[in-house]
Formats: sequence, structure tokens, C-alpha cells
Amino acid sequence: MTYDHITLSLIAAGAIIMMISLMNFRATIRHSKELFIKTDKRIRFLSISHQILMILFLVGYLVVFYSIVQNVSIFGSALVGAIFFFGAVFVFMGNSLQADMLSSIRHHNDALATRNRQLLQTESVTIFTLAYQAELRDQETGKHIERTSRYVRMLAEELSTLPKYKDYLTPQYIEDLEKAAPLHDIGKVGIPDSILKKPGKLTDAEFAIIMKHCEYGTKVLKIADEKLSFQSFLKIAIQMVQSHHEKWDGEGYPQGLNGADIPLSGRIMAVADVYDALRSERCYKKGFSHTKTCEILREERGKHFDPDLIDAFFKVEAGFEVISNSLQG
Ligand SMILES: [Fe+2]
Repeated sequence: MTYDHITLSLIAAGAIIMMISLMNFRATIRHSKELFIKTDKRIRFLSISHQILMILFLVGYLVVFYSIVQNVSIFGSALVGAIFFFGAVFVFMGNSLQADMLSSIRHHNDALATRNRQLLQTESVTIFTLAYQAELRDQETGKHIERTSRYVRMLAEELSTLPKYKDYLTPQYIEDLEKAAPLHDIGKVGIPDSILKKPGKLTDAEFAIIMKHCEYGTKVLKIADEKLSFQSFLKIAIQMVQSHHEKWDGEGYPQGLNGADIPLSGRIMAVADVYDALRSERCYKKGFSHTKTCEILREERGKHFDPDLIDAFFKVEAGFEVISNSLQG
């Protein structure tokens, strides 16, 4: 191979690489436009200039290639100088374009992350407000839903350390459980005040009406869930609302489910809800001490409650006491 053949091959290869780069560059610009940076004027200017320089280089390769084949001398000091100068401009523009595109994408990502955070906060506040309405009619305080949400998270996190639950109780599932917990008694909005606020013992007929709060709550959340086009925490909330009064031995309501047929969300909520109810003062009773409440829960292991849940409870019961004492009201 002669010196000219090597030169021609290198120039031809360079031209092919430049053509491929041009094609890839167009794809890069198209992707960047999809990432919301099409309105950035500086990026638009840089990308067009960069593309023009690439085309000029490609033309330059072809001219040099042609001049060698035709044995026409086009090399002069001005052309060599221009190649070096525009080469530097080309690299500079490429780097500037890359930096601007990354900065623009980051800016938009930051804006999206902020919006996402705001939406999540709005969601939490909306859930709490909704749950608080039901709570107000029952116990006139929002602390019950705050405490039970925390108990639910503690129990779920403890349970997730067991191999049996590790794959099921993922961080996302626990997050959804905590989010769903405030809604567990939302169906109480459908129960008359005369029954809900009755200071004495309920008659069988009245208790039958109270039992309906699971059904009412489920109905409301199902309507909301049907309006969503994605899998949300409401699926867990529906299970929890429906099953938080079921008992491990099948003596609960509304369906009389037993054992593992009761959704895990309902089994967790049952422990959190009963612990809080036992410790809380009502117009018809005083609140039990933490020790007395623990005794009652232990007695109900395998009867009212899932044995695994009671075992988990006794590993974190000190945390329950702290929450119960610090979130009074
Ligand atoms: Fe309930």
C-alpha cells in the first residue's frame, strides 16, 4: 500500500465516522427534545452550529479526498490553519452543548422531583383529612389515627425481618400500609351518632349497625380505586378496612375469616387498633396501663390475633408505649 492509499483510506474512514456521528447526533437532539429541553434557545443554537460544523468537516474530508485522487494541491497555510481552528471550535461547541443539555435535564428533573414531593404531601394531607372526619365523630381527636399508623409501621417492619414475610413486606408495601392505616375506620361516617357516641353498652342491633362500618368504608374506597388507572395503596387500604375486625380464630366480622385467610394488612391493623383502644380513655371506660394491655394481647395470641403478630409486638412493645405516651389527646 502506498503512502497515498493509506492517506485516502484514513480520510474515507474519517468521513464515514463523521456521517455516522451526524446521524447519531440527530437522534441525540431528538431524545433531548423529548426530555423537555426543546425550548432552551442556547441549546438550540449550539446544536444547529454543531451540526453545521459536522457537515463542513464532512465536506472538507471529501474535498481533501478528491484533491488527492485528482492530484490537485489544495493545501495552503490558510486551509491548515482553518482545519485546526474549526477543529477546536467543534470540540468546544460539543462540550458546551453536552454541559448545557445535562444542566437543562437536571433542572427539569429537580422541578419534577419537587412537584412529586408536593403531590405526595398533598396525598398524605388529603388522606389524613378524610380519615379525621370519621375520627372526629367518634373520639373527637386525630391522635388515634396518627398513633395507629405508627404502630402499623413498627409491626410491619418487625415482621419483615422474618424470612416468611421478607419478600412480601417490602419497603414500598410497608409505606402503603402506613398510608392506608388512617383510613381503617373511614366507614364510621355512615354510622349514626346515637350509636357511635352512645356511652353505655350497645345492644345487639346497634352493634350490628357498627359492624357495617367495614362495608361502608370498603364501598367508598372501591369507588375511589376504580377511578385510578394504576395500582395504588388503596388496594391495601380496601383489604385493611374490610378485614381489621376479623379474628385469627374466625370469631370476628364481617366475614368471619380465620387464620391466614385474613389479609395481612387486616391482621396488622387489628393489633395496632386494639392496643390503642385498650390504652385510650373513653366516656364509658378508663384507659388501661401498657402492662395490662400487653397482658390482654398475650392472652389473645392465636385467638383474636395472629401469633406471629403478637410475637412481633412483644419485640417492639417499648416503642408502642413511647408513642402511646407521647401522642396523647
Ligand atoms: Fe374499625
